Amino acid sequence: MAHLVTLIPGDGIGPEVALAAEKVLAATGVDIQWERVELSADRIRATGESLPADVVASIEKTKVGLKGPVTTPIAGGFQSVNVALRKKLDLYANIRPIKSMPGIHTRFDDVALDMVIFRENTEDLYSGLEHEIVTDVITSIKVITRTASTRIARAAFRFGSRHLRKKVTAIHKANIMKLADGLFLRCCREVAADYPHLVYNELIVDNASMQLVTRPEQFDILLLPNLYGDIVSDLAAGLVGGLGVVPGANIGDNYAVFESVHGSAPDIAGKGLANPTALLRSSIMMLEHLKEMDAAKRLQQALETVYREGDNLTSDVGGTATTDQFTAALVRQLKG
Ligand code: NAI
Repeated sequence: MAHLVTLIPGDGIGPEVALAAEKVLAATGVDIQWERVELSADRIRATGESLPADVVASIEKTKVGLKGPVTTPIAGGFQSVNVALRKKLDLYANIRPIKSMPGIHTRFDDVALDMVIFRENTEDLYSGLEHEIVTDVITSIKVITRTASTRIARAAFRFGSRHLRKKVTAIHKANIMKLADGLFLRCCREVAADYPHLVYNELIVDNASMQLVTRPEQFDILLLPNLYGDIVSDLAAGLVGGLGVVPGANIGDNYAVFESVHGSAPDIAGKGLANPTALLRSSIMMLEHLKEMDAAKRLQQALETVYREGDNLTSDVGGTATTDQFTAALVRQLKG
């Protein structure tokens, strides 16, 4: 059966890694019909529309998207389209598996890491409620609700239970933000009570950050509100090879958008140097979501082989190959 999927190449290195994903997914033999939509900083600037209606309409139709990065201006300019898309489609769970992959060398080569981060994706300080009260005095409002905290906690525990994981760690700063993070923790504890077979513990975000670096192997599922989740998931990405290689998914009750964690990398855009691994691993998550388990497994194995062999890797992971050379090696592996 053909799967209809929205493809959002994005901008910067987005179109380069999206093209690689298209080629590699075609080589898996899975019948995917792409509905391609443009979401880029240029289009947003030209139209003034921060989230073009055709992008939303396409995902509402296909229910599944594969997305490259989109540039967001810093300190001013339009709102982040990523945040806008997540809110519009209520993609409340940002899921990032952090797993060591053979052939990707890191400072933690001697420990096999396998954790999954569940980050709340719709509220917290990303509500965009910022005000200049008087000149040079800004407030930025952090919103934490029972509804959003409970549903991300449920997503984490449900995943943990289904995938036979052992432990869920909620990460917070409730010693300082007693009300906001206190509510987040209360919701996590309530959900934890329904899953007595999973160990539940809590860590303050600063301590959690240190422990992620000193003893990362102790972590299994991490459950965080939006801002800590954003920061901690990049930190964790660094443990297993960096932003160019880790996948991500934004999942709600009705729609799912799979995307690379990295940004549009303006420093290397258009040079043929981008590593498509992050989007390819996100594609593996997408194949699993589409119940194409066999293709997901074959793609994972092909990636591991190309990394183990090591002669077609891009420069961010220590190689000298271009995006095209890496992609071609992977396609050969899948077809061979
Ligand atoms: P970035 O992730 O684009 O780049 C950080 C560093 O990692 C750069 O040196 C870049 O060359 C390298 N890098 C990133 N992805 C790579 C890949 N696939 N292969 C090889 N090297 C890679 O982060 P930065 O510079 O902070 O952000 C650039 C723009 O991207 C900003 O406008 C930001 O808002 C946007 N962004 C968009 C995201 C999205 O659409 N989901 C996520 C993060 C940032």
